[in-house]
This record gives sequence, C-alpha cells and structure tokens, in this order.
Amino acid sequence: MKGNWAHAAARYLKSEGLRQINQEAYESLVPEAVRNNSLPMVPDSRAYFGFRPPAPQTIRAHYNALAPYYEFQLMTVFGIEVKTFAFLAEFIDTMKPKSVIDAGCGTGLTTAFLAKQFPDVNFFAYDIAGKMIRRAKARCRKLGLANMQLFLAEHLKISGMPRDGFGLLIAKCAFGGENAVIPEFLNCPSPSMAQEEFYNGDPTMQRWEATLAGFARLLKPGGIFLDIGLACPDRDAAVWTLADRVGFEKDDSLETVIDTPADGGRTLAVTAVGYRKI
Ligand SMILES: C[S@@+](CC[C@H](N)C(=O)[O-])C[C@H]1O[C@@H](n2cnc3c(N)ncnc32)[C@H](O)[C@@H]1O
Repeated sequence: MKGNWAHAAARYLKSEGLRQINQEAYESLVPEAVRNNSLPMVPDSRAYFGFRPPAPQTIRAHYNALAPYYEFQLMTVFGIEVKTFAFLAEFIDTMKPKSVIDAGCGTGLTTAFLAKQFPDVNFFAYDIAGKMIRRAKARCRKLGLANMQLFLAEHLKISGMPRDGFGLLIAKCAFGGENAVIPEFLNCPSPSMAQEEFYNGDPTMQRWEATLAGFARLLKPGGIFLDIGLACPDRDAAVWTLADRVGFEKDDSLETVIDTPADGGRTLAVTAVGYRKI
C-alpha cells in the first residue's frame, strides 16, 4: 500500500480514541503519584556514574503502573508520534521485510498501526510489563489483526520467538534509557575516562551490550535494528560502540531525525538510527 502515511497515522490514532492533549490536560487525566513515579537509579559504588540501571522487576512495576495512562503521555507529543508512525510505515514499505519485531512494544499502539497497514508482514511484539501487553492484546483482538503476535518477555530473556529470522527489529523508546539512565550521558564520558574500561566495566553498558546481542540473535543476516529515541548524541555514541561489538554495522544512510514544531517555539525531535546485522 502506497499512501500518505502521516494521514493514515493520524486517522488511526483518532479511531483509537486518541487526540493531541496539552500538559494541563495530561495532568488532569493522570494521578500525580503515577506522573511523579520515575524509575529510580540504584546506587552502586562500582559503577562509573555511581549508579546502575533499575532492576527488571522495578522497570516492570513502573510500566505496569503507567499502563492505563501511557497513551495519554504519548498524546502530549501527538505530532512526533504521527511522524514516527509515518516514518516506520515508509521504512517498511521500502524495505519490505517479511517479519518485524517490536521490542518493548508498550501498549502495541505502534505495532498495531503497522500491522494494519501491512497485512502481509508478520509482526511480533513483546514487553516486560504484563499490563502493557494486556492492552496490546486487547487492541490486536479489537482490530482483528491476524498478523500480529504478542509476548510477555524481557530484553535479556526473550523466548518463544523465532531466532535469526527477523528482517527488522524496532526498539521505539524502549532500549537503553528506561527513562532513568539517559541523563548520565549528558555529562559523559569524561575525556579522561578509558573508553574500553567504561564499556567493559559499567553495569549499564554491560546490560546494553547483552540486550544488543539478543537483538542481533533475533535478526537474520542483513536484518536491521532501528533504534528510535529522544535525540541524545552521547547515548547514541554508546549504542553505536556496543552494537559494533555484537555484530552490527551502523548504516549512516538509515539515520533520520524526526522533528516537529512544538509549543513555545520549541522543536521536538527523536532520532532513528539504523544498524545492520553483519
Ligand atoms: C517508553 S515505553 C515505549 C513503548 C512503545 N515502544 C512506544 O513507543 O509506545 C518503554 C517500554 O519498554 C518496555 N521495556 C523497558 N525495559 C524493558 C525490558 N528490559 N524488556 C522488555 N521491555 C522493556 C517498558 O515496559 C515500556 O512498555
């Protein structure tokens, strides 16, 4: 299907009962305790930045609590979601993978949109949070998507899915941050730090490397891992280094900035960085 993907994305979100909301509306819809419940960093004197990433059970609890409200959060950045959905649809339309996996799919909003547009492509999606997956399953049933399968899984313990088979793996705001560890990259690495030591010794880097190795195992040779997230050059540089270690090659032609004007003259931006499995 060729088409105007941005229109299709906006129509889809509307049909799911979602529309742009501002921060004020968001605050009125989401309990304060949930809004303020950010993922705690765990103090660890062995870690380069003095903390390590939150444990999987903490991430799970966080996203389970957020699940009923998660899409309201997305709707505060409606414009960027529409553009990201359109970018992904265009990408799949051009690349024509037979099977796609969405790692950390949340409520399945993105995956279901893509599965609806491309009925001949098989979509698999997983998430660590059962309440997110439950919502994704309900959406999938409601839309009658026979080409979308959902799993409860953690990046480091993925089971039940075909290995070495996917043409495309999408991680949309779902890897290497968990909303807690990105800030460390805004101030680092320090110029005096031995880079190898950092990548080998820091618990966050070790977890990211293991996660990327798992992504590589899911893809077929030549398959692409699309890392989509808030633009953060230092984080992207770390992912680039670690992806290279586990058998990915960064493909500069697949690097895209998706941005959109936002309130108060700001610009919202996410980057999509593509890595090809060698
Ligand atoms: C910010 S949300 C993004 C959801 C979805 N990709 C989207 O764009 O709407 C991050 C998601 O990643 C999931 N996640 C975080 N860490 C994970 C892990 N280690 N394994 C599996 N899922 C994880 C969370 O449960 C959450 O649903």
